[in-house]
Parts: sequence; C-alpha cells; structure tokens
Amino acid sequence: MVSHSFAIIAFLASGLLFDQLSAAKPGRFGQMARHPHRIAEQMMNLPKLEHRATASSQYRFLNSDTERYLVHSLPEVNFDIGEMYSGLVPIDPNNESRALFFIFQPTIGSPVDEITIWMNGGPGCTSLEGFFQENGRFTWMKGTLKPVENPYSWVNLTNMLWVDQPVGTGYSIGKPTATSQEETAQDFIQFFKNFQTTFGIKKFKIYVTGESYAGRYVPYISAAMLDAKDPDYYDLKGALLYDPCIGQYDYAQQEATTFPFVQQNANLFNFNQSFMEQLESLHTSCGYEEFLGKYLVFPAADVQPPKSFNSTTQASCGVFGMAKTAAYNLNPCFDVYEITSMCPMAWDVMGLISSAAKSTTYFDRSDVKEALHAPNINWRACAILSVFVGGSAGPEGEGDVSANPIEHVLPQVIEATNRVLISNADYDMIIITNGTLLAIQNMTWNGKLGFETIPNKPVNIGIPDLVYANMSQANNKTRFVGQGIMGIQHCERGLMWAETFQSGHMQPEYQPRVAYRHLEWLLGRTEEI
Ligand SMILES: *[C@@H]1O[C@H](CO)[C@@H](O)[C@H](O)[C@H]1NC(C)=O
Ligand SMILES: *[C@@H]1O[C@H](CO)[C@@H](O)[C@H](O)[C@H]1NC(C)=O
Ligand SMILES: *[C@@H]1O[C@H](CO)[C@@H](O)[C@H](O)[C@H]1NC(C)=O
Ligand SMILES: *[C@@H]1O[C@H](CO)[C@@H](O)[C@H](O)[C@H]1NC(C)=O
Ligand SMILES: *[C@@H]1O[C@H](CO)[C@@H](O)[C@H](O)[C@H]1NC(C)=O
Ligand SMILES: *[C@@H]1O[C@H](CO)[C@@H](O)[C@H](O)[C@H]1NC(C)=O
Ligand SMILES: *[C@@H]1O[C@H](CO)[C@@H](O)[C@H](O)[C@H]1NC(C)=O
Ligand SMILES: *[C@@H]1O[C@H](CO)[C@@H](O)[C@H](O)[C@H]1NC(C)=O
Repeated sequence: MVSHSFAIIAFLASGLLFDQLSAAKPGRFGQMARHPHRIAEQMMNLPKLEHRATASSQYRFLNSDTERYLVHSLPEVNFDIGEMYSGLVPIDPNNESRALFFIFQPTIGSPVDEITIWMNGGPGCTSLEGFFQENGRFTWMKGTLKPVENPYSWVNLTNMLWVDQPVGTGYSIGKPTATSQEETAQDFIQFFKNFQTTFGIKKFKIYVTGESYAGRYVPYISAAMLDAKDPDYYDLKGALLYDPCIGQYDYAQQEATTFPFVQQNANLFNFNQSFMEQLESLHTSCGYEEFLGKYLVFPAADVQPPKSFNSTTQASCGVFGMAKTAAYNLNPCFDVYEITSMCPMAWDVMGLISSAAKSTTYFDRSDVKEALHAPNINWRACAILSVFVGGSAGPEGEGDVSANPIEHVLPQVIEATNRVLISNADYDMIIITNGTLLAIQNMTWNGKLGFETIPNKPVNIGIPDLVYANMSQANNKTRFVGQGIMGIQHCERGLMWAETFQSGHMQPEYQPRVAYRHLEWLLGRTEEI
C-alpha cells in the first residue's frame, strides 16, 4: 500500500524561468519565452566536480574476484564514473538461483572502512531509485534531460551500497517465498557476507539506511546483524530511516493525522469549506482527535492501545482516502508523495509503473543492463508480483506478517548503537510527519517510553547551493550562504528525530543538503544536524 505509485513533479525548469530571463528586462508581468532546453543544458554543463584522478590500477576494491563487477561506463552518463561495481551476488554461495543485485561505489572522499547500505521500499521497489534519483554520485531527476553529477552525493562521505531486495525486486533474481521480515533479513545478511568476502571487506563499520517500506527492512536487517554476533561482517554502528513505516502506519501515520495535515497545508489542497467541515467532523467522531490529544504528547502519556484501520469495515472513517481522492479531483497531478506537485507531470527515466508520463525506462535498456552486469530480465521500478507471499496478512496488509518495528527490533537497534535517525518530510502525505512522531511516542527504548520533551531545535543548513545558483539571478545574491532553517531536530537516548521542511517523501531527492547533514550525523562526523 505504501507502494511507490507515480511520482509527479512540476517541470523542474518552470520556477527558474522568470529569474533566468528577467535579466533581459521584458515587461515585468509579461509572458516569458520558455527555454526549458537552455535550463536543462545549463544543468548539464555544470563544471565537473574535482575528482581524485585515480587510475583503475589504484582502485581500492579491484581484485580478481571483483573485476567482473567493475562498471566501465554507463549509457548517457558522459563523464568518468570512477570506481564502481555492480551485479548479482547469490544469497547462498553454492546456489546461484537466488541472488540480490547491488551497486557499490566507494567514497570519492578520504577512504573509510565503512559501508552504508541504502534500500528503497514498496515493498518491491528498486533501490536504484535511490542510486539514480536521490543520493547517488550522478542523478537523473524527473523532468530533466540527462544525468548530472550530484554534488550532495553520499559517496562524498562514505562507501555506498544500493541493494535490490528482497528477492523479486528490481534486477534481483529468484522466486519470492517469504512471509516475514525475519526471512528476508536472513537472505540479506547472507548476501551481504558473500558480498564482503568477494570484495575483500572485513571489520568495516556498517550503517543501514532506507526510506518508506524500508522503515521495516532497515530495523529488521539491522537486528539480524546484531543477532548474528559476527563483528567481522556485521559491526552495525547505526541506522537511518526516512518517512518510514515503523508503527501501525494506516492508523497512526495516515488516518489519525490526515485532517490536521490537510488543515496545516490548506493552501495546497484548496478544499472547499463544506468538505473541510466534513473532514473535521470525522476527525472528531472517528476518535482521531481524542487519540492525538491523548497520545501525541511529551512526555509520552501511556502505551497506545492496538489500532488498525480496515478500509472495508471502517470505510466511513477513511479520511485519508477521502482527502486523497478530493485532492486528485482538484489537481489531477496531485502526488501523495509530494503534495506541492502540479501539472504537467514530468517524464521519469525510472518509468515508474503507473506513471501517465511514461518514457523509455533507463534500467530496462539492454545497453544499461549490459553495462551494469545485470540479468536480462524485464525490469520494473516496482515489482508487479508481491515480494512477500502472505497475501494480505500482516500489520500493513502486505503479506509480511512481522510485527511493527516499534515493538521490538527498532528499540533493539537503538539500544545497541545509540545512533539511529528517524526523519519525516513535511510535504509527504503517504507517511505523515506527526504520524511518525506518534509512532515514536509508542516505542520504549533505553528504559523509557517515547520522547520526554517536544522537538524544537532548528536544523540550520549551512551547505551552499551547488547546483542552481548560477541559473537564477535571484539566487545570485545568496549563492555562497547556506540554506537556512530547514527542519527540527531532537535527540534522546540514542534516537535522533528530524523533521524536514519543504520536502516530499524522497528526502535526498527533494532536500539533498538536509539529507547530507543527516548522513554526517549518522556516520558520527557531527553530534548535531
Ligand atoms: C537452488 O535453489 C533452488 C531454489 O531454492 C532449488 O530449487 C534448487 O534445487 C537448488 N539447487 C541446488 C543445486 O541445490
Ligand atoms: C562533494 O564532493 C565534490 C567533489 O569533491 C565537491 O565538489 C562537493 O562540494 C562536495 N559536496 C559537499 C556537500 O561537500
Ligand atoms: C504536529 O503536532 C504538533 C505537536 O502536537 C502540533 O503543534 C502541530 O501543529 C502538528 N502539525 C500538524 C501538521 O499536524
Ligand atoms: C502501541 O504499542 C503497543 C506495544 O508494543 C502495541 O501493542 C500497540 O498495538 C501499539 N499501538 C499503536 C497504535 O501502534
Ligand atoms: C477487513 O474486514 C473484512 C470484513 O471483516 C475482512 O474480511 C478483511 O480481511 C479485513 N481486512 C484486513 C486487512 O484485515
Ligand atoms: C466540495 O468538495 C467536495 C470534495 O471534493 C465535493 O464533493 C463537493 O462537490 C464540493 N462542493 C462544492 C459546493 O463545490
Ligand atoms: C558560478 O559563477 C561564478 C562566478 O561567475 C563562477 O566562479 C562559478 O564557477 C560558477 N559556478 C557554477 C556551479 O557554475
Ligand atoms: C551575480 O553576482 C556577482 C558577484 O556578486 C556579480 O558580479 C554579478 O553581476 C551578478 N550577476 C547578476 C546577473 O546579477
């Protein structure tokens, strides 16, 4: 249900046109000529980032076992991609029939003995979305002409590993058989040990990160690493979860928090007064208002009673669905992952399955598959067949019966590492910020329930704009200063909470500078964001 449906963003260039062209001084309110190509070309012509000029003979992880994974170049990526590997690594080294697909890029900064794993959600959506549109070295964003170098890439700081998992996702091969996170986590850690053996990696610090339904993958995989008690391969040091499915998401992270969310973003929804009144009265009569009043408090009041939302039996209290449907009526290009989106829909090189603006899907191209040592299978951003086979069982109705992470595995991971970051974006409606906070207030870790004090410390981003500054006259004045207050942070007992302003669900895509700071915190390079 948290499947990544079509993501739709307003054409990238539109907001820049006025700034760009106003230098020519047409009438202040005149119709501007549109030059999307000029903007796009300018983006592509950004000066190349400085690389350590590294001959392949100096590649850190190149050996006779990894040579077959080395990626020499990628179609459309017109610059030196540096040291990068990809391909399939089997889960069981003696049986190649089930294997996970990875992309591995060592850091372009100072070498570090650590690996940061990234996973997207779905369940069943490819982690190459993260690689190619969020935190990778080069990104090809929706609506843009070509891939460009990403100056906020996580490879600036750490060795990055993107993995298509569980079996059935992206380029990974094998028949899905799992009905729980415990099973897929075992598959993952076996794959991961084989990966490290192949690459000659041992005793590295491990960080596990991801977004959305990976809010379940990340803590379960992290917990499996802790339980394995093998620090040579699973020396887990921390975890990061973006807009994660950690609690009873349909109730806490959607229904209960929908009306206040709509109210707070009233200008974007533009609902009429009678509809707002209808939502508000359901918010009260369905008990959501009372639930929030009682449990979204600091310190936490009490353990919350079990709650779930059944869209059949509780249809009349489905405020989330009602609001979403009404939003699409008013704005056909509404995007539940990023509520500021307006028409037109931008084309997307990832070819997300239900996208109305379908285009040639990059990872389904045969030259791309060849370059990446990927299997020649019909590639989709999100699997059509379920990657968990338990039908509609489980707390999220996804055929995955494992308990919500707040109940056990997430506390375990926080207590073992004291370095876990949970973050939610404010323009995300599929997982609502206050809903995630509500889920945290129902979690007991390091001896206490929830946060004791209300989050209120600002996140001040000092990283300058490294992409758009020169394309916009208005930005010119502020080119070299930071971004400003972009969120709220709050840390208690090893758990860092970070609310992110002006961001959709995919935080490294929408707010890459904020995500960069999150990563610095995760890696222990800073004690505050
Ligand atoms: C490999 O695994 C598959 C799927 O689990 C199984 O059907 C097959 O028999 C296995 N092959 C060998 C040689 O063990
Ligand atoms: C990332 O590394 C590149 C290449 O060294 C550099 O140009 C860029 O400024 C770095 N980004 C950040 C946010 O430090
Ligand atoms: C989120 O919860 C806080 C604390 O209860 C409240 O002040 C804020 O208005 C809520 N925001 C939204 C969007 O509901
Ligand atoms: C709150 O946590 C308790 C204990 O883990 C769990 O039984 C209950 O279902 C949770 N309630 C919600 C609304 O998540
Ligand atoms: C919702 O309730 C209906 C009717 O009781 C039941 O058949 C269905 O399995 C329930 N759905 C979920 C996801 O629990
Ligand atoms: C108000 O909005 C609701 C939901 O979109 C719609 O069904 C209704 O027709 C609207 N009422 C008026 C008077 O436009
Ligand atoms: C932006 O413009 C400045 C001044 O003209 C120039 O030094 C710099 O290299 C440009 N940066 C980019 C990213 O184009
Ligand atoms: C941008 O700023 C630079 C340095 O302050 C200045 O020389 C230049 O004229 C400005 N460009 C525009 C288009 O305003």
